[in-house]
Amino acid sequence: MNTTSPVDSYLIHIPVMLSEVNHALGVDQAGVFLDATFGGGGHSRAILEANPANEVWAIDCDPEAETRAKILKETFSDRFHFYRTKFSAIQALPEVFYDGALLDLGVSSFQLDDPRRGFSFRHSSTLDMRMDSSSGISAETFLNTASRAELIEAIRDFGEERHWKRIVNAILSHRGMQETKRSDLFVELIVSCYPLRERFRKIHPATKTFQGIRIAINQELLELQEALSKIFTRLKPHGRLVVISFHSLEDRIVKQFFREKAGLTKSQTILTQVAHTEATIISKKIISPSKTEIARNPRSRSAKLRVLEKL
Ligand SMILES: C[S@@+](CC[C@H](N)C(=O)[O-])C[C@H]1O[C@@H](n2cnc3c(N)ncnc32)[C@H](O)[C@@H]1O
Repeated sequence: MNTTSPVDSYLIHIPVMLSEVNHALGVDQAGVFLDATFGGGGHSRAILEANPANEVWAIDCDPEAETRAKILKETFSDRFHFYRTKFSAIQALPEVFYDGALLDLGVSSFQLDDPRRGFSFRHSSTLDMRMDSSSGISAETFLNTASRAELIEAIRDFGEERHWKRIVNAILSHRGMQETKRSDLFVELIVSCYPLRERFRKIHPATKTFQGIRIAINQELLELQEALSKIFTRLKPHGRLVVISFHSLEDRIVKQFFREKAGLTKSQTILTQVAHTEATIISKKIISPSKTEIARNPRSRSAKLRVLEKL
């Protein structure tokens, strides 16, 4: 039975740093694993295929990920469990302790490439951008109702956009108009806020604003902060937490959390660390995708992988 929607069926998501993740989680040894960002199930499937005794508990808040999870359920039956929820709500899952847990942050290609979801500035669509399309507010509602301070937080702080002031003013003066409802017109509005000489650079002018708004409406940084400690409490002794992040704000939160758990003060480096408190940082250096992977899957280029092991 084909459980994917017509749009879904031509979209694919290539799992990032698959072998590095499998190695870090130690999936060859039979174990119980958490995939907190199921997406298209690329990592879940690889874990389940690595050892016939492996079990995966998967989470995703996207209703369309739940549809894709049914395909894995049919194949792997009792070894695979899926919950449609936010990863910060992991406490609501049965009290299982994991040998390894994965957070592969951000959006999937299923979400990015589906014009109905409004994540991409390359499509002409309504501005939605919700990971869980069944709850919360859309980007359109955000643009038309958020306070100036909320818009500044999204575009300046979460998007790290240099021209935030002009863009915020342009949004406020185009409320109720098509420019704050349709992605193509919103993109034109952002571009018009850029000086001419900066409009045609390699990075599209809308990239940072779209990222900031997405982070704001999905409360991505708050979700991550909450999830890290909750997932950590569900690891078995020697259980590993593997996190793939795609931008500096996420990576900073992950790095800080890992250092806290490893008992590192600001001045200590991983190499001089003597007393571990709750965990050991396994990834002494950030792990990045290989050149070959980036050539095959350019979307992996900004991925950073960090690994922590509970004591
Ligand atoms: C980069 S994709 C994961 C791709 C997956 N590893 C694969 O190989 O197919 C990230 C997924 O995490 C989900 N997600 C993001 N934030 C979430 C949250 N706070 N709670 C639950 N799921 C979330 C998104 O809906 C998306 O499907």
